[in-house]
Amino acid sequence: MTLPTTARYCVFGNPINHSKSPGIHALFARQTGEDLQYEAVLAPIDGFAASVQAFIAGGGRGANVTVPFKEEAFRLCDGHSPRAHLAGAVNTLSFDDGKILGDNTDGAGLVRDLCVNLQTPLAGRSILLLGAGGAARGSLGPLLEQQPAALFIANRTAAKAATLAQQFAALGPVQGGGFDALVGKHFDIVINATSASLAGDVPPLPEGIFSADTLAYDMMYGKGDTPFLAEARRRGVRRLADGLGMLVEQAAEAFFVWWQVRPQTAPILDALRNT
Ligand code: ATR
Repeated sequence: MTLPTTARYCVFGNPINHSKSPGIHALFARQTGEDLQYEAVLAPIDGFAASVQAFIAGGGRGANVTVPFKEEAFRLCDGHSPRAHLAGAVNTLSFDDGKILGDNTDGAGLVRDLCVNLQTPLAGRSILLLGAGGAARGSLGPLLEQQPAALFIANRTAAKAATLAQQFAALGPVQGGGFDALVGKHFDIVINATSASLAGDVPPLPEGIFSADTLAYDMMYGKGDTPFLAEARRRGVRRLADGLGMLVEQAAEAFFVWWQVRPQTAPILDALRNT
């Protein structure tokens, strides 16, 4: 007789000690009745691949990947989902029959948070995406799939935004440039995908890009307003959201990839907001 074994999952990152993913997946497991164990694993900066192999050898079935390993995870995979391919980065690994399969649920998580939790449909709207790094790139395909009227990528290094826009031009009306190119423009939705908040900075945004009805969205989250949200509030924006919803939704999408079961996210998001 073979005893049922608890399926092992983890999240790899560096640093990782503040990760909320183990708690979120434990709540998903309780809600859906799946038998799984999910832990946080600190991978050495130069030891990501070895950490993944050790986890697989120990019976791991899948993993999430966070900063700074998402691009390395992409390179490690034997196969990619179309959305991971588009993102050039992987946040969800499935270990299957000796193969590593890579997916990317970040963009889907962002879109679901915007469209469902925040009830902000993107079709026909104008979107400003701040930043042209991995976080911005990962969200571009899913954002354009929603058929916005226009999507502008603005970045400190303007050339990176222009290149990214060119790469995604076939998927929708996307343009890119520096922050100075925003003068005279305004947007329905402004998404901060820069890492400026980590240094307590806000990208230098010209006046006028927000209207009172604009949704200002920061992929970062923390206690209280992020620096970007504080600046948007100062400029009169009333609709503000941080990235906690995106975090929970990308986790739910990863859970779906592994278990083909979609957890309910609203109670979990409520619980996290109240802790
Ligand atoms: P991530 O994976 O979080 O996107 P990344 O790939 O290193 O990280 O990209 C960081 C992004 O934040 C980039 O768009 C970066 O702008 P540059 O391409 O000009 O470097 C942006 N960024 C970081 N610090 C910033 C700051 N203080 N002000 C404005 N943009 C900043």
